[in-house]
Amino acid sequence: MIIEVMYNYSEMSIKTAEFIIEMVNKNPNALLCLAGGDTPIETYRLLVKASKEERVDFSQCKFVSLDEWVGLDENDEGSCKYFLYKEIFKPLNINKENICFFNAKCGDLQKECKRVDEFIFKNGPIDIILLGIGVNGHLGFNEPGIDFENYCHVLKLDKNTQTVGQKYFNKEMKLEYGISLGIKHILEAKTAILIANGEKKANIIKNLVEKDVTNEIPATALKLHANSFLFLDSDAAKLTHIK
Ligand code: F6R
Repeated sequence: MIIEVMYNYSEMSIKTAEFIIEMVNKNPNALLCLAGGDTPIETYRLLVKASKEERVDFSQCKFVSLDEWVGLDENDEGSCKYFLYKEIFKPLNINKENICFFNAKCGDLQKECKRVDEFIFKNGPIDIILLGIGVNGHLGFNEPGIDFENYCHVLKLDKNTQTVGQKYFNKEMKLEYGISLGIKHILEAKTAILIANGEKKANIIKNLVEKDVTNEIPATALKLHANSFLFLDSDAAKLTHIK
């Protein structure tokens, strides 16, 4: 895992956006998987800006979802799908046919896992996966204790994720289960980028950097990845001695 610390959130976002732009320019048909959450917002705005300036073209790329709260879909403000359509797919004018997103409201979630797995097997492996990290070390909704051999799966969310997840919604939500790509998909991606900013992530980043690979900290799986990157701002890196 290659670690780089940037001065602040803005610089971390510029670094991440430019890194993605360079890869998409080299591979305009790339399959991308993009996280929801607060961390990548500025990166997405920079990608949209670069696209408007014709510095990058995402029109031939395909996109697969990382995760979703079970029971929610694009009509629920705060869902992953709502967020990604608002922040990136709509502004980039991505053709719906190029997006495969979990339908976490459907009656048969196992079938939904299979559908998304098959999309990745057919169009993949994922070229670029952009991830955020939970304060409990989760990647996507791969919570502490997860089996690294999982592909797409449905899972009971950690209490911490249920609580922290309330920040995305304007009313109290029941966030008990998630549907997520598995660690195996993440490890099979050609390039994995994890970004983290702010003091609230400093403790988990210290654990991620210092501890050996363990499923108690799912993000440590990235240490098994041959082409993984950790981009931090100085607040997230403040408890970590990075050589
Ligand atoms: C969201 C996701 C989560 C978040 C993580 C960090 O799609 O997969 O793993 O990336 O919880 O969330 P923020 O960025 O809001 O701190």
